[in-house]
Amino acid sequence: MSWLADNFSALLYLISAVMFIFGLKRLGRVRTARGGNQVAASAMLLAIVATLLDLEIVDYRWIVGGMVLGGLVGAVAATKVAMTAMPEMVAIFNGFGGAASVLVALAVVWQEVIEREVVGAPLEVLGGTAAVTIGLSILIGAVTLSGSLIAYLKLQGKLKRGQPIMLPGRHLINLALGLGALVFAAQFVGASAAGEAQTSTLSLAGLSLALGILLVIPIGGADMPVVVSLLNSYSGMAASATGFVLGNNLLIISGALVGASGLILTQIMCVAMNRSLLNVLVGGFGETDSGGGGGADEYTSVKSCGAEEAAMMLETAESCIIVPGYGLAVAQAQHIVREMADLLIGRGTKVTYAIHPVAGRMPGHMNVLLAEADVPYEQLVEMDAINPEFKTTDVVIVLGANDVVNPAAIDDKASPIYGMPILNAHEARSVFVVKRSLSPGYAGIKNGLFELDNTTMIFGDAKKVIQAVANELKELS
Ligand code: TAP
Repeated sequence: MSWLADNFSALLYLISAVMFIFGLKRLGRVRTARGGNQVAASAMLLAIVATLLDLEIVDYRWIVGGMVLGGLVGAVAATKVAMTAMPEMVAIFNGFGGAASVLVALAVVWQEVIEREVVGAPLEVLGGTAAVTIGLSILIGAVTLSGSLIAYLKLQGKLKRGQPIMLPGRHLINLALGLGALVFAAQFVGASAAGEAQTSTLSLAGLSLALGILLVIPIGGADMPVVVSLLNSYSGMAASATGFVLGNNLLIISGALVGASGLILTQIMCVAMNRSLLNVLVGGFGETDSGGGGGADEYTSVKSCGAEEAAMMLETAESCIIVPGYGLAVAQAQHIVREMADLLIGRGTKVTYAIHPVAGRMPGHMNVLLAEADVPYEQLVEMDAINPEFKTTDVVIVLGANDVVNPAAIDDKASPIYGMPILNAHEARSVFVVKRSLSPGYAGIKNGLFELDNTTMIFGDAKKVIQAVANELKELS
């Protein structure tokens, strides 16, 4: 019994850690993702309660206050922020994670070394692991904080409209900043007095903040979701390092989970875009001249039609694949798309949705949107499974998608997206592309699909166009 009392909070931490792992596992499938999220959120609550019970850590009023404030901010953000702005929200939250790691590490330095006016190396006062991990917490946390704020501003288009900012000699500057940060980290570990510990940690934080800014500004808006995912991983590593500083096993485990899953997600996104992580991080992709334009004047033979013609074609189609993209999210057309699909299914047409791994602006963007409209999971088919189906499909409706159906990825070696796996919509018997204009997608390049013989454009907002097609279908029945 006394063993249980002694180890009660450790046991609660262990249960939370298992719940985090279980929740994360369930996030891997659309069907179980919502439940997985709830399990992970409950694990977080349990972790806070465990901390609350362990009164020695900090006054419980601070914990309750933090929980209420953080919960309120999270609840308001989750309900108010639009799905299309989710990457920005994740970026800001990553930044907060990095800031928390820096502040906790600095607080430990202040409490344990500076306020006590310690004479002697922090290494001796704090212990080797804590001294080294304080340096890592500040370094990774500060890079995450400033990098995430820049990513947020870029995603919002507030920093040179998301374009890369390429400083001359930036690699050398970054190298100097990185080395400088390491020197200050080493100086902190070996500091012989409180004052030296203070200046070295603050200098380390300053250089790391500058490094975070300079690492992210050369990266274009199109690559920002990859950067956000990588920064997410950094925030996990910083949290894990902070876990070592505080001797908190749960923080070490949950930070490591975030660090590892963020890295895996980053890798998945890079593979889906056929880019190496190094290529993304070096930056420059998405500069105005990199994609060769792609405005209306680039196209010579584009056909277009209205909703009525599309509905007539759909009326006789035996199979239809809907290819959703970023424009579907912008137009919030998911509910009306499902209504149209139901009408077609009611007429005996086989309807499926082709899901590209990087359609939209964040991983799983299309899955989340379509799930919001209660589209049955079995109608959502991943890229590799659906690609062989296009050849035998009567009608494909490309809804606000562009880059993910651009055949240049297959046949134009000079294209910036060459090699990126795409949905082979161009192989279908008829393709309708619904978008407002001939403007390019995120990669900023022309799309040859729009000029093919089997393609017809339907210009307009995705929601309005699909509403009109659904109305026509209702009239035809
Ligand atoms: P995009 O290539 O970005 O194209 C979206 C299209 O939607 C635009 O061409 C736009 O054309 C159209 N659109 C915008 N608002 C619309 C509306 N209200 N109604 C109808 N159409 C509208 O989208 P995609 O095919 O989904 O490709 C995603 C891109 O993001 C890829 O380049 C991918 O590499 C990149 N990216 C994605 C991720 C993740 S994880 N998803 C991560 C990094 C990068 P108009 O302006 O003419 O309407």
